[in-house]
Amino acid sequence: MSNTVKTRTCLAIVLAAGEGTRMKSSLPKVMHPVGGRSMLGHVLAAVREAGATSMAVVVGPGREDVAAEALRHAPTADVFVQHERLGTAHAVLAARTALERGYDDVIIAFADTPLIRAETFVALRGILAGGASVVGLGFEARDPTGYGRFVMDGEMLEAIVEHKDANAEQRRITLCNAGLMAIDGTRAVDLLTAIGNDNAQNEYYLPDAVIVARSQGLSAAICLAPEDEVMGVNDRIQLSLAEAVFQKRMRLAAMTGGATLIAPETVFFSHDTRIGRDVIIEPHVVFGPGVTIADHAVVHAFCHIEGARVGAKATVGPFGRLRPGADLGESAKIGNFVEVKAATIGRNAKVSHLSYIGDASVGAGANIGAGTITCNYDGFFKYRTEIGEGAFVGTHSSLVAPVTIGAGAFIGSGSVITEDVPADALALGRGRQAIKLGWAMEFRARSSSRKAGEHK
Ligand code: UD1
Ligand code: CA
Repeated sequence: MSNTVKTRTCLAIVLAAGEGTRMKSSLPKVMHPVGGRSMLGHVLAAVREAGATSMAVVVGPGREDVAAEALRHAPTADVFVQHERLGTAHAVLAARTALERGYDDVIIAFADTPLIRAETFVALRGILAGGASVVGLGFEARDPTGYGRFVMDGEMLEAIVEHKDANAEQRRITLCNAGLMAIDGTRAVDLLTAIGNDNAQNEYYLPDAVIVARSQGLSAAICLAPEDEVMGVNDRIQLSLAEAVFQKRMRLAAMTGGATLIAPETVFFSHDTRIGRDVIIEPHVVFGPGVTIADHAVVHAFCHIEGARVGAKATVGPFGRLRPGADLGESAKIGNFVEVKAATIGRNAKVSHLSYIGDASVGAGANIGAGTITCNYDGFFKYRTEIGEGAFVGTHSSLVAPVTIGAGAFIGSGSVITEDVPADALALGRGRQAIKLGWAMEFRARSSSRKAGEHK
């Protein structure tokens, strides 16, 4: 961000009053997630990153859920209610008391336009700093139908004409209004209150701030963004398109940051996934929220990872599942069909096959055999299993928590361990094997003569 922009105060007004009926959802539209974060959350993050010093969120009447979501992402934001839906300028003026506090820059964002980047708002603010009173954000539309059109005179934006109000000549314009704007904060209240509703929809149009500014001899400018970035979400199909654009960005960022994605289009990130350098991610991996993968780790194919930390050089999968609280140390190995939840796996420890490790700690260098289960739940409470460094748990063991396996201890295969095992001890918790020599021969002889008798 340039120093000029940095030193200016900025109010961001986020319009989140959309009805979103086309989503056919009990969840308000702007609370639907993209990359695991609500659209409203994305927009608030973008305006914060763009240097907004204050934020105002405009919600529809009775939308406490949207207000709460806004405050979760921006605890200091002011929430305003637009009681009647009279247009975008009217919605912005719901935040009038915030506007009246006085700012250098006012930026206006739509909560249903989740892919907007902070850099774009910074660019809008830069143009305000350069002397424009209003800046419209435009894009070249593949299909301009429905959008407001930018009417230019050279570099000067003269008007934004809504599709419904446009004449045939204006409808041929493909430079369209993204909806988002920046307005000189010292004039915003004056400009916005001068907007009328004499138009096809009898609405107070925010884009008319341009006409008002021009009629006062003030300058209005434009800033351009790619169409993908300013796409609005009105239904589930557009939500999936937004998700696709977002995932593409995340994949590019992971690769630019030094990770290898063998089939990037099959890897799905959360907005907060952190991937180190020289990480290899094989095909078909899904990251839920709260994942950090350290340098040189390998995530093999078909893993599902959420709320987990994977240490440097650790490996997961194929078919690994890391649930919240899984914390893998350096060079730890989680193999196929292993689920780890709320458990730390120490440095160089291995859980290679078919195990469930939950509410546990596994010490450095421990080896957990195939099919080991920590029995952590009795239907009411969860209990912990502590496994010491260098312990060796034989295959198909059930560790009934709460239980502690000492460092260096051995657990015989197939054991059900209900009592603590001291360090370096061997614990066997299984039936003793019995051998009856020749039993099978006698059994076969007995059984075949009986069968022959029945068939007579
Ligand atoms: C708006 C722009 C149009 C632009 C298009 C880009 C206006 C008048 N038109 O049109 O130039 O090309 O976006 O997608 O601004 N909202 C409220 N309260 C209202 C009305 C709208 O909060 O009274 C919110 C909506 O929830 C939405 C946003 O403002 O988030 C835009 O409103 P919408 O009705 O979708 O405007 P468009 O007709 O799409
Ligand atoms: Ca719209």
